[in-house]
Amino acid sequence: MVAFPVSENVARMQASSTLKAAQAAAELRAKGVDVIDLSVGEPDFDTPQFIKDYAIEALGLGITKYTASSGLASFREAIANFYSRRFGASINPADIAAACGGKQALFNAAACILNPGDELLIPRPYWVTFPEIGTFCRARNVFIDTEETDFILTADQVRDAISIRSKLLIINSPNNPTGRVIPPDEMRRIVEVCAERGVYVLTDECYLLFVYPPAEAYSLAALDAQTRKHVCVAGSFSKTYAMTGWRSGYTIANPEWTRAMVKLQSHSATHPTSFVQYACGKALDDAERSRVAVETMLAEYERRRAYLIPALNEIPGFKVSVPEGAFYAFADVRALVGKRWASSEKFAESLLKDAHTVVTDGAGFGADGFIRISYATSLENLERAIANIKQVIERA
Ligand SMILES: Cc1ncc(COP(=O)(O)O)c(C=O)c1O
Repeated sequence: MVAFPVSENVARMQASSTLKAAQAAAELRAKGVDVIDLSVGEPDFDTPQFIKDYAIEALGLGITKYTASSGLASFREAIANFYSRRFGASINPADIAAACGGKQALFNAAACILNPGDELLIPRPYWVTFPEIGTFCRARNVFIDTEETDFILTADQVRDAISIRSKLLIINSPNNPTGRVIPPDEMRRIVEVCAERGVYVLTDECYLLFVYPPAEAYSLAALDAQTRKHVCVAGSFSKTYAMTGWRSGYTIANPEWTRAMVKLQSHSATHPTSFVQYACGKALDDAERSRVAVETMLAEYERRRAYLIPALNEIPGFKVSVPEGAFYAFADVRALVGKRWASSEKFAESLLKDAHTVVTDGAGFGADGFIRISYATSLENLERAIANIKQVIERA
């Protein structure tokens, strides 16, 4: 049989390494094994009931037809009002476009600015999808190592990485996989450095509100209108409101960038589901209930973080910086690698095989020698996982 001629653009892309870990866990579970899954990239909470009720209301109202490709006007206005309330931002709803989750928002934004050969600047470690988007667009991925600054990207690092071919910098704060948060002043400096050199910034704000005090949530949407022309914000309801399956996100960008993204989307997904847009808009307008829902989840993540980080740092061979946001701990296990295990991948395999505990190897994030541990799971699971990891290391 002749091999199927997969297009070059797609053939060059790698399958998601985070999904591999989840798949391994699912296979073990199917065999009846009690697996502790710390590879999950989604909240373990259900969507708040009031948001589900808004979706049901939308169906009752017959909001079941096509919307504009840019999304329902009420959805975009609700987003603009949210950024105004929360961050003092002044955004024209016309500069907002609905997308099917943060992922499509990022894809739309990158595909509408990158040409073959353009440089896409990607801080490393990175979320697995970033280089794949660059690869699909035939851009040249240029990585900026951030280990020296404990995984917090600085404007100086960006300045050093920019070349004549640089077109777009993609940043993600709070960060997946490190959980680190770039301070607002540094974020603004990063944009200034880029703007001076004609480089655009795509900011993945998927974990926007998952920031633990004393750090504070900050969005580049709050920049003054002139500086914001160089920025596209990719937002998402997935993590913040525990709505991963709803596929709801959006972009905030200058009018030309927005028009291009809407054109692209009009020939692909068209728009995110109409009644999902309605429910998300209503949820944001229901500011008090939204605030309480997010704060309740955040408080639980914080409780887990308070247990997990010191517990990980007590394990011989583990080193973890305190994440200021998201729900991931990124552990440096290089002290173990080279001794009992040849790589962090082998260590992750041992944890799976010998302790039925699933973590994600750092190699997929461009950080060999690290593992990512998600605490979007119960405290009880985290306690069991820590005991398991200790046992595997002791037995080695
Ligand atoms: C950093 C980051 N960006 C974007 C996404 C995509 O989220 P969604 O497409 O569900 O909004 C994820 C999901 O894991 C993520 O971790």
